[in-house]
Order: sequence, then C-alpha cells, then structure tokens
Amino acid sequence: MSAGSAPKIDTVRGDITRLEIDAIVNAANTTLLGGGGVDGAIHRAAGPKLLEECRTLGGCRPGEAKITGGYHLPARFVIHTVGPVWSGGKRGEPQILANCYRNSLQLAVKNEIATIAFPAISCGAYRYPVQEAARIAVNVTRNFLATSPSIGQVMFVAATDEILAAYQELL
Ligand code: APR
Repeated sequence: MSAGSAPKIDTVRGDITRLEIDAIVNAANTTLLGGGGVDGAIHRAAGPKLLEECRTLGGCRPGEAKITGGYHLPARFVIHTVGPVWSGGKRGEPQILANCYRNSLQLAVKNEIATIAFPAISCGAYRYPVQEAARIAVNVTRNFLATSPSIGQVMFVAATDEILAAYQELL
C-alpha cells in the first residue's frame, strides 16, 4: 500500500448497482425476496438468479448479513443486510444498525473481499434519521478497519445530496 494511497473510507454520490467492486451491500428486508429502493435496484440489475439464490438463504434477521453472488451486477458479491425500522430510537435501532455494518464487514473479511460499498442502510423506507445513521456507519466502519487491514476500501454511496453531505461532514 503506497503512502499516498486513497483514503480507506470515502463517500460518493451515485447508484450502487453500477460499481465494479468486490461487494455491494443491499438494504434488504427479513424475507430477502426483494423490495423497493436499493433492494429493488439491485435485484433488477442482478437479474432473476439473485432471487433464486436468495430463496435458499432462509431469510435474514435485522442486523444480520448474508452473502450471494452478484450475477449480472458489475460487483462480484452482494452482501444482504436488514436494517432496523426507525421507531424513535428506544427499541435498539442504533445497535441493530451498528450490527448491519459490523456483520457485513465481517462477512467481507471472511470472503476475502477487499473493496465494499454500502448504501445508507435504513435511511429510506425504514425512515432512520440520516445524520445519526451516517454517524453510526462511519464510527463502526472506522473501528472495524482499525483491526482489519484486509479490507482495502469502504465506499458509502449516497443516492441523495442530503446523505452525501451527512457522510462528507463525518469523513
Ligand atoms: N444506489 C444507492 N443508494 C440507493 C439506491 C441506489 N441505486 N436506491 C436507493 N438508495 C438509497 C435510498 O435513497 C436510501 O438513502 O438507499 C437508502 C436506503 O433506502 P431503502 O432502499 O428504502 O432501504 P431501507 O430504508 O433500508 O428500507 C428497506 O425497503 O426496499 C425495501 O425490501 C426493502 O423492505 C426493505 C426496505
């Protein structure tokens, strides 16, 4: 790794389904059978074989993460995680969201994934406050990378200017 290499964590505005990297993370629901938002975009871009593989996984609990192939996506893998639905912050939402990032990164290390991109998990249909969600995402990722050098780069992909600004403030 050269001294002046790119920062290990950065943020970019765009569509996560277009990224040609090792793994993109999907903000899924507990059925893992697709949905709207980034879940719908990833399934549309990956094609029907992604759903076929998801059917074999037996769902996913909030905070957990499961991995599949990327199929027609430019990314090699999809790591599916299920974020918390925001209900005021007193029902364990922060811990569940932190687990989404931690478990996805752990799964990346286990599968020798070096470059990974996250959408803003729970910040859409699940209505998690953006600033707080971004703070959790960056803190958990920074702490994880401090002890896991095998991950070369983490990208936070923002689909809106509001989310991009939230990450830029923290990075
Ligand atoms: N690339 C990057 N980010 C995207 C994309 C995309 N192509 N499409 C949407 N997003 C962003 C949204 O703007 C939001 O900031 O992903 C973030 C997460 O929003 P959702 O996709 O609504 O996910 P979430 O809030 O976690 O809700 C999950 O929605 O789609 C269903 O099946 C899914 O039930 C689950 C729920």
